[in-house]
Amino acid sequence: MDTTEPSVVYWTSCETQNLNEEAIQNHLEKLSYTEQMRYDEIQDPQRSKQFLLGRILIWHLLKDAFEIKEYTIETQDTFDKPKLVFSQSDLELDFNISHTEHMVAAVITSSGYIGIDIEDMNIKRSWHGIGKKYFSAHENQDIERKPSRIKDELSLKLWVTKEAAIKARGQTISRGMADIKILKRWSEKQPFDVSGTHQNTQWLVYGITPMKDHFGAIALVKHNDKAPNPNLKYIKYQP
Ligand SMILES: CC(C)(COP(=O)(O)OP(=O)(O)OC[C@H]1O[C@@H](n2cnc3c(N)ncnc32)[C@H](O)[C@@H]1OP(=O)(O)O)[C@@H](O)C(=O)NCCC(=O)NCCS
Repeated sequence: MDTTEPSVVYWTSCETQNLNEEAIQNHLEKLSYTEQMRYDEIQDPQRSKQFLLGRILIWHLLKDAFEIKEYTIETQDTFDKPKLVFSQSDLELDFNISHTEHMVAAVITSSGYIGIDIEDMNIKRSWHGIGKKYFSAHENQDIERKPSRIKDELSLKLWVTKEAAIKARGQTISRGMADIKILKRWSEKQPFDVSGTHQNTQWLVYGITPMKDHFGAIALVKHNDKAPNPNLKYIKYQP
């Protein structure tokens, strides 16, 4: 059953501080066996909250956008992309989750493989320095030519774009990200194209600002036979 509009990418977000004890307790029993095992292994309370809030946001998106309550999430390994499993439907939906210290964002679609990455700009990291290790020589030359004050921000935008693309494909950054190229200027107003030489993948990427001082990107693996430009729709979550 697909009750939703075709070709929409739904996303939502929530600050971890807004997650209340009741929501935590209610959702714990909904975890699949493998997810329960992963949850039980987490030692850090903040990380437990992030893990659970991610699942709550996916539950919220499935319910509001697709009218689905029967499903499980299965993950094989910590660095494996979690997947949705439906017992009563052959629906193909892909989802993804990203967290920072203060918030969690989640995305779901029936339009292809999806990835999300968000980063907190208040965490004082040299994105410019990190980019030097991970970006292509050409990208680093481009960034070097820009004024110092914007180098970190440019590197961060490039980072979230590439990481969202990697996550859509279900990989990790350990294989590198230099082959993933932004073809159009980074934008929050319209989706832009990204291409990768490895496996010849193309992505459509949406820039997002989930909250003040947070940057993010949502990447959808482009399928030629599906609508080329799905809408991005935010569904508010009220804990
Ligand atoms: C998953 C990965 C791609 C990104 O992880 P991250 O930046 O640490 O974390 P994010 O918050 O964006 O995403 C984590 C979520 O992605 C999902 N995920 C895990 N593995 C995934 C994969 N291979 N592909 C897609 N999604 C994945 C999970 O839902 C996970 O949250 P959960 O554990 O609560 O379920 C990770 O494999 C990776 O490569 N991390 C590298 C981070 C790093 O080394 N950074 C160094 C420079 S700062």
